[in-house]
Amino acid sequence: MTARPDTTEAPWWKRGVLYQIYPRSFADSNGDGIGDLRGIINRLDHLEWLGVDGIWLSPITVSPNADWGYDVSDYCGVQPDQGTFADVDELIAAARARHIRVLLDLVPNHTSDQHEWFVDSRSSRTARLRDWYVWADPKPDGGAPNNWVSSFGGSAWTLDPRTDQYYLHNHLRSQPDLNWWNEDVRNAFDDILRFWFDRGVAGFRIDVCNIIIKDAELRDNPPATAHDSAEEQLYGQRSVYNGNRPEVHEVIQRWRRIADSYEPPRVLVGETPVEDLAKLVEYHGRANDELHLAFNFPFISAAFEAPAMRKIVEDIESLTPPDAWPAWVGSNHDMSRLATRWANDDPRKIRVALLMLFGLRGTPVIYQGDEIGLGDIAVDPPDLRDPLGVSYWPHYAGRDPMRTPMPWRHEPGGGFTDAGATPWLPFGDLAACNVASQHDDPQSALVLARDLIALRKQTPDLHSGSYESLPSPADVWVWRRGTRFVVAVNLSDRPATLDVTEGRLRIGTNRGRDGELLLGSLTLDAWEGVVTEMAY
Ligand code: NOJ
Repeated sequence: MTARPDTTEAPWWKRGVLYQIYPRSFADSNGDGIGDLRGIINRLDHLEWLGVDGIWLSPITVSPNADWGYDVSDYCGVQPDQGTFADVDELIAAARARHIRVLLDLVPNHTSDQHEWFVDSRSSRTARLRDWYVWADPKPDGGAPNNWVSSFGGSAWTLDPRTDQYYLHNHLRSQPDLNWWNEDVRNAFDDILRFWFDRGVAGFRIDVCNIIIKDAELRDNPPATAHDSAEEQLYGQRSVYNGNRPEVHEVIQRWRRIADSYEPPRVLVGETPVEDLAKLVEYHGRANDELHLAFNFPFISAAFEAPAMRKIVEDIESLTPPDAWPAWVGSNHDMSRLATRWANDDPRKIRVALLMLFGLRGTPVIYQGDEIGLGDIAVDPPDLRDPLGVSYWPHYAGRDPMRTPMPWRHEPGGGFTDAGATPWLPFGDLAACNVASQHDDPQSALVLARDLIALRKQTPDLHSGSYESLPSPADVWVWRRGTRFVVAVNLSDRPATLDVTEGRLRIGTNRGRDGELLLGSLTLDAWEGVVTEMAY
């Protein structure tokens, strides 16, 4: 494939690395077993040492926590167990002093049912804010207005006996969907964006931003076919009318205009669970006037195999509009962690996955714990906190296994909370995986991640250079970055030998090879990866 021209003078979010913090599980400063803002401030040294350029915090706004912050009851308030506005301001300032920007999470698709907007909306058919949510009459037989299914399972509609109409909720019943056709809703969110941008927030990760606007006529979704995504097949319907509607782009453009009106411009990162990559890249906007970064779920969900991964990256490279920029994610608070999902908790595979993420063209977004190769932690039924785990155990353990507290040290409280405190979710084996034991070990995943980030940061070819796939055996994936760098990952159980031009191995997953001279050929062990610099 043809290489794209190198990007020069790229903004920070293109050159840099983003790091997702799940605040309840990052660091607890007051011994209540729940991570908080002050805990993040106390751990900024770690993030600076690691070299990340921005942190995205999962919601810190006020919430009754039916969905752990993703059910917001006040968009312009701080959840008391997270801290105060003074803590937010201090975090932004302390992070800025370390050249780290702070992004928050915006949840525009739905609110909590305890939000005052919904309390008003459901109070009567003529309530002032009735039209802020999606209300519809029952069918003549009393059934739901259409066949839409909630992404958390079951009908997406609940009948509210007070007014005998159904309201729409694409997630829990306690998360009613807002009506994004309503101009007042749009204006309210304009104000929310400005509220946080004015406080110095560098941008937002925007929750399920591709589904906020629904078909105005509330038409039934058609049945799923064998060609549809696994999720659509599970629900038995294609999400034609309850998401990815063309009008969503107007809303994102509106947000982008607000983000661009700030100096420096604020950054919009979309949670865009879109299967079709051609549709995914549309979220950057035809005139590069929508999302700066759009999360690529087919990549996260792909098998950790060279042909599958290479194909997605090549497709994104050819589909992404010229000024737009990809993002690469391996884990988040909803999906099994990369150490488990891609790497099956095999240290070789974890290391090669990290090297791959930091070697691609596009912004790597890592999730807290990825840097130490933290895997999913089994959570026993009495300890489950995620409503999905509670509902679907034992068929599905929910999302708690990827939300357990950050293991900082092998000691009581794990360095996460006080020695005597009970963390809100259990730790795994603190001895097996923790930050402190990896910090000074030159062979650790953590030092590998730190060194890869540092090399990327100081090397224009790696942070901004073009991507070009190079020929290789099927199980190996080799690509050029910019003019002089070549990344190679062997995603197989067999060694592989590649022809290379003369150069030097800069960083390998086997750190003993760093600096090795390359004189025409390179042999990679099973599950080994390297970043090399060619002499010409
Ligand atoms: C996606 C979020 O990442 C997830 O945690 C949440 O449950 C749903 N959206 C609903 O907000």
